[in-house]
This record gives sequence, structure tokens and C-alpha cells, in this order.
Amino acid sequence: MSTMSTMSTITFLLIFSTLATARFNVTSNFRVDVHTHFIPDFYREALINSGNAEIRNGTEVWSEGAIIPKWSIEAQIETMDTNGIDYSVLSLSAPGVAFLHGNPAAANLTRRLNDYLFELMELYPGRIGAFCVLPLPNVEAALEEIEYCMDTLGFAGVGLFTNHDGVYLGDSNLDPIFDLLSTRNLTTFVHPTVPNCWKDVTLGYAPPLIEFPFDTMRAIMNLFLTGTRARYQHINMIFSHGGGVLPFLAERVAYTVERPAFGGYRSEDVLDQFKGYFFDTASTVSRPQLAALDEFGVAGRLMTGTDYPFLPGNFTNGYPAAIAAYGKFTEEVIEGINSQNALSVLPVVVEKLGLEILYN
Ligand SMILES: *[C@@H]1O[C@H](CO)[C@@H](O)[C@H](O)[C@H]1NC(C)=O
Ligand SMILES: *[C@@H]1O[C@H](CO)[C@@H](O)[C@H](O)[C@H]1NC(C)=O
Ligand SMILES: *[C@@H]1O[C@H](CO)[C@@H](O)[C@H](O)[C@H]1NC(C)=O
Ligand SMILES: *[C@@H]1O[C@H](CO)[C@@H](O)[C@H](O)[C@H]1NC(C)=O
Ligand SMILES: *[C@@H]1O[C@H](CO)[C@@H](O)[C@H](O)[C@H]1NC(C)=O
Repeated sequence: MSTMSTMSTITFLLIFSTLATARFNVTSNFRVDVHTHFIPDFYREALINSGNAEIRNGTEVWSEGAIIPKWSIEAQIETMDTNGIDYSVLSLSAPGVAFLHGNPAAANLTRRLNDYLFELMELYPGRIGAFCVLPLPNVEAALEEIEYCMDTLGFAGVGLFTNHDGVYLGDSNLDPIFDLLSTRNLTTFVHPTVPNCWKDVTLGYAPPLIEFPFDTMRAIMNLFLTGTRARYQHINMIFSHGGGVLPFLAERVAYTVERPAFGGYRSEDVLDQFKGYFFDTASTVSRPQLAALDEFGVAGRLMTGTDYPFLPGNFTNGYPAAIAAYGKFTEEVIEGINSQNALSVLPVVVEKLGLEILYN
């Protein structure tokens, strides 16, 4: 008995360190999109009414230097059908509700967004799931919202941003959130947003161009250097866009913080921690990007992300071909990207789809 359980622990660790994952009875091209967004009109209006967005040229809505595209659930489902996406876990994109600074209006808008997500799930069961929107940086209201989303609404997990009105992942103010995520073993999707100083650094260009990938790295680095990730290492966290600039900067950070003046950490610990996250493929399927992720050692921790509607459907429908064209991923890795890795950390989705676990 004890030998058996030791063996299964060892097997689990071995699988965990290479591929993510359990296996579920879906076809090899079944795809679960973990990075795709809903943008209801009342959210767009809230952005505009609070002075955090403006209408330019009659129709386009701009917020924080980026276009907030038109969206409808019907168009979303149609795009999923066209692009071979079987299931989408919707989340709120930047700027989230952080522009309301965690005040009561933030909690109110958050609740409305989550209730709306629930309606979409009810409309399209089997196609649509959700990551909980949080009214951060209001931690108390966010804790309440997590319980509501998971217990009452049956969401797949929780959505976070790299920072919330300047409060970065790793900030000790967010420890109660991490405590709850850890205690309840909830999977977290982390979307990038802009740093508070974005106007000073973007040179007038759209912040998503390079600020999003850098803010992702900033959050990942902060999670290490504050010791937060080490304390909550079992929370499944999905970072967007292949981890932003992580694959390129990981070693630079790891070897720099080895020096006593910068903390005296072990570079192996830094790199191991960085490789312990999951990463989605949204706008990260070019050959150099996939090669960087592969060389970094996280091919087994990738998940499908389309970033619809911020990227139009016809932009993202080439993803499977691009991933196949890279040529160095095994069929097992590609199935992991398509759905197996996401299903491995989203038990609510597995249950809703009525899937069976084949092995783990
Ligand atoms: C404004 O919108 C019109 C059509 O709606 C388009 O033809 C024109 O190029 C746009 N102008 C700018 C500056 O984006
Ligand atoms: C949000 O506030 C509005 C009034 O501004 C109110 O009508 C609505 O019921 C509130 N929604 C929630 C979920 O509290
Ligand atoms: C996608 O569709 C839009 C609008 O229909 C079009 O302007 C654009 O050229 C298309 N892009 C690609 C890559 O096909
Ligand atoms: C946490 O959830 C994952 C799936 O997301 C599961 O594989 C793992 O066994 C769970 N761990 C605990 C301690 O419940
Ligand atoms: C997976 O297995 C479950 C339980 O046996 C079954 O109900 C379901 O139809 C299967 N799904 C697929 C896609 O094969």
C-alpha cells in the first residue's frame, strides 16, 4: 500500500514536471480558450462615464490608449465556431475595474459583470465559462466576490491583473486573496494591464504594444522577490501572452539576483519558480516566440488563448497551423495546448462538460 502511494506520488511529480497534466476524454483537436474577453455595453458606458474612456471618430472607444472593440456573445460564439474553439472561459480585459479604485462603485460594477457572465454561461452551457471579475484593490470586497463566483455562480476560476491600480501581484496587501485561492485550490488567470506611470513610458504609443508584456514580467518578478509565490506555490496561475517577456528575461533576472547585493537567491530557484506557471498562446505563436517558450522549458504548460475580440477572429484562426508549423512540438504537447492543460486545472469545466479523467 505505502509503496503504491509512493509510486503514484513519484509518477505524479514526474508528469507534473514535464507535461502538466491529467488526460481527459476529448478529441485531440478539442480546444479550450482561456484568454478571451466579454465587453458588455454597460461596462463600456461605465468606462466612458467615469472619464476613463472616450469615443473617438464617432464609434471607437479608447481607454488607456487602447481600442475597446465591439463585442457581442453571438459574434463570440460564431467566431468560436469558425475557428474551432469548443469552449471559452471569458474574462474581463484591461483596465478591469481598477479605474474605480476599489470604491463602492467598483464592487457594484464587478457584481454586475459577474452576474452578466453567469447569464452568458446559462445561455450557452457547454460553450462558455468564466473567470471571476474582482473589485481590486478592494481586498475585502474581492474575497466576497470570489466566494460568490465560485459557490453561487459556478465559475471556472478567478481573474487577476498584473497590477490593480498599482497594487502588484506579490504585494502583501493581496495576501488574503492568495490565502483564499490557495485554501480553495482555485485556478487564476492573470491578464496584463498598464503600470500607473504608463503615460510617462509609452511615448504616446498604444500601451499593449510593449507595456503589457513588461508588466507581466514585473508581476512575475515581484511574486518571486517578495517570497509570495514561494508561500503559495500550488496555486495554478495562467499568465497571458506566453508570459510576456518572461522567456527572454528569466535568466537575466535569475543570474542578477544571485548576487548578494540583489538578494543572493539561487538562480535555479528563480527559474524553477518561473517555469511553474501556465502560459497562454494569445499573440504568441510566431516561430521565435514558440521557440523561446520551448527552449525555456514550458512547452508542456501552454494553453490556447485567442484574445478575441481584441484580436479579430480571422487573426487568430491561424493559430493551430502556426503551432503545427513550429514543428518541434509532439502531438502530446499540442493536445496539451489545445485543451488538456486547461482541463487539468479547471475541474469546474471538466464537470460541466461531463468529461471523464483517463489518467493523471
Ligand atoms: C473615421 O471613421 C471613418 C468611417 O467610420 C473612416 O473612414 C475614417 O478613416 C476614420 N478616421 C480616422 C482618423 O480614424
Ligand atoms: C449598482 O448600483 C445601481 C445604482 O447605481 C443599482 O441600481 C444596482 O442595483 C446596483 N447593483 C448591484 C449589483 O449592487
Ligand atoms: C480580418 O477581417 C477584417 C475585417 O473583416 C479585415 O479588414 C482584415 O484584413 C482581415 N485580416 C486578415 C488577416 O484576414
Ligand atoms: C488542486 O486542483 C488541481 C486541479 O486544478 C488538482 O489536480 C489538485 O489535485 C488539487 N490539489 C488539491 C490539494 O486539492
Ligand atoms: C467522456 O466520458 C464521459 C463519461 O464516460 C461520457 O459521458 C462523455 O460522453 C465522454 N465524452 C467524450 C467527448 O467522449
